Amino acid sequence: MADDTEMADRIDRAADIDRADEIDWADRIDWDGLRARAKDMAARAYAPYSNFPVGAAALVDDGRVVEGCNVENAGYGMSLCAECGLVSDLVAGGGGRLVAFACVNAFGEPLMPCGRCRQLLFEHGGRELLMDTPRGVWTLDQVLPQAFGPDDLDHVAAHRDVVG
Ligand code: THU
Repeated sequence: MADDTEMADRIDRAADIDRADEIDWADRIDWDGLRARAKDMAARAYAPYSNFPVGAAALVDDGRVVEGCNVENAGYGMSLCAECGLVSDLVAGGGGRLVAFACVNAFGEPLMPCGRCRQLLFEHGGRELLMDTPRGVWTLDQVLPQAFGPDDLDHVAAHRDVVG
């Protein structure tokens, strides 16, 4: 897996590309590398209650890789999924759009994000986010069809006069 700087250089070198959303990401994803980073994160999880460590890693549209692991709490309901840490890493590190995402269990096997975390990922990756799943690479739209999102809020905000 290329480190973040290498990955960013590779993206900068891509000919005729000056906008991240014009990049054909599908060919550029080092899935094995992302899975390896996710597995390293699972080893750092704090999961004394479930004994179910989870690690997540994702490629950002500027070439960064962001990561997270689950962090549990004695108040079980307050536990943080690995995706929460990953999104926090994304935002704290300067933001950007998620392009490709991998989540694994302690064995390094692909794991589907829970429903709540699919929503979290939708906010920062949108429908096109590529997801490593036990059935292969799917888009977020395929695993969270017709997602509720910022567009729904914008739509109503833009037509306030209609709803009063
Ligand atoms: N978990 C995650 O970190 N991400 C998911 O998408 C599924 C579940 C964590 C939460 C909890 O710490 C453990 O897995 C068992 O549910």
